[in-house]
Amino acid sequence: MENVFIMDHPLIQHKISLIRDKSTGTNEFRKLIEEIAVLMGFEALRDLPLEEVDVETPIEKCKSPVIAGKKLAVVPVLRAGLGMVNGITTLVPSAKIGHIGLYRDPETHEPHEYYCKLPDPIEQRQIVLVDPMLATGGSAVAAVDFIKQHGGKKIKCMFVIAAPEGLKRLREAHPDVQIYVGHVDRGLNENAYICPGLGDAGDRIFGTR
Ligand code: PRP
Ligand code: URA
Repeated sequence: MENVFIMDHPLIQHKISLIRDKSTGTNEFRKLIEEIAVLMGFEALRDLPLEEVDVETPIEKCKSPVIAGKKLAVVPVLRAGLGMVNGITTLVPSAKIGHIGLYRDPETHEPHEYYCKLPDPIEQRQIVLVDPMLATGGSAVAAVDFIKQHGGKKIKCMFVIAAPEGLKRLREAHPDVQIYVGHVDRGLNENAYICPGLGDAGDRIFGTR
């Protein structure tokens, strides 16, 4: 599947097993999600463009590469995506942060938007959309739709766990977007939860319900 990257590094797989465990508490869950975001981000950002700048070392002047262009935009899908933001800003401290507020209707499982704000000029930035879960794909498709409506062009999406159904839907709706996934699970249950998954990511990060 071109444009889909499964990040099966042993450290990512190990940490995903820890967050799946229902006995992993909020504090540990939050730390692990952030660590997974660092590991995934490190690989997902390997094609960031570089430019040469002049640097003077204690020995002599030289040209040396730095990240080029407008600052990266990290865009979490609220709420659960917030848990991955610090992982990306650990790697790119100068990144700007946008927010997309979506919740799934418990009956229809369709996403509803309640808040959206993106850093300007969004069209010139590399955008990294983050959300731990890609289930039906409704939220991710709506989030990418919104970013594109506002002019976003260079979009990468990062999910810790994905269902095949959501992956298919997102790829078909947005074939130009690069999708990074920690693990592809078996599928969805009748409540559109990922199996085996990890439960409700937002509740586990924020200690709600
Ligand atoms: C979760 C998750 C995704 C969405 C995935 O959010 O963080 O955004 O569900 O499901 P989908 O692929 O079927 O759209 P949720 O709607 O539970 O909101 P929350 O993060 O505020 O708990
Ligand atoms: N959202 C979650 O947080 N978990 C799922 O399994 C599906 C959607």
